[in-house]
Amino acid sequence: MSDVTAWRRMAVGLLSPRWVVRARCLLGGKPLPRWGNLRRTRPFSTAFGSDRGTPIDRYYLDQFLAKYRRHITGRVLEIQMAAYTHRFGHDVTASHTVDIDPKFEPTYQCDLAHADGVIPGDAYDCFLMPSTLQHLRELEPALVTALRVVRPGGAILATAAGLIPLISDGPDYWRMSAAGWWEVAARVWPGCTIDVAGYGNSLAAIAALHGLAVEELEPAELDVYDERYPVLVSIMCRKPEPA
Ligand SMILES: C[S@@+](CC[C@H](N)C(=O)[O-])C[C@H]1O[C@@H](n2cnc3c(N)ncnc32)[C@H](O)[C@@H]1O
Repeated sequence: MSDVTAWRRMAVGLLSPRWVVRARCLLGGKPLPRWGNLRRTRPFSTAFGSDRGTPIDRYYLDQFLAKYRRHITGRVLEIQMAAYTHRFGHDVTASHTVDIDPKFEPTYQCDLAHADGVIPGDAYDCFLMPSTLQHLRELEPALVTALRVVRPGGAILATAAGLIPLISDGPDYWRMSAAGWWEVAARVWPGCTIDVAGYGNSLAAIAALHGLAVEELEPAELDVYDERYPVLVSIMCRKPEPA
């Protein structure tokens, strides 16, 4: 062992683990973090940033619904409230809602997993399920219902939370990658046209986890997609027309 190596080992042995990492980064040309006020165990907002501006996941939800706006037409069913039907729909002839929770006064108050005899089949051109999939306790039966209530040729537009906090006031069960959601969708909706996409990147995910708002980042930052850091996963499902 050369003298230099021996000295180096001795110096490293005297340093705390934090300083070892700093030294390794400095010697290896890796940047050191400048935490500022990001070094915190409590987020800036516990309301997904809605008390500051627009929650990060809503930026991606809007992009998804704008992309598939052509399907939001005719008879439209939406989870909870018809807010996205009103924002993105065109030529809507009927706007109905469904929710397990009666406080939203939905058209159909039921558990989607047990909706036979409550919501008619083949009845809607579009079923909007924004930010919903993670909340469905009996996930696959609920998704089978979603397809049943859409007419042949109609569409389901659904999204699931990715790297964002769990809700604080209700059940929040599932976090899956785009690949995981594709597996579920292909299993419950065989024969359908399915498009699954992820949105976000590490910066968007950190901002979302800390409760920062869309307006605090640049569109160019939000629009970078890194599949390892999905903030939102979207699913478009088109029910096949009879041959
Ligand atoms: C987070 S909200 C999504 C829609 C909301 N407009 C939004 O944009 O965030 C999820 C809704 O799904 C409802 N829900 C959860 N499980 C359900 C189920 N099994 N059947 C029907 N509705 C359900 C909840 O009561 C809640 O109102």
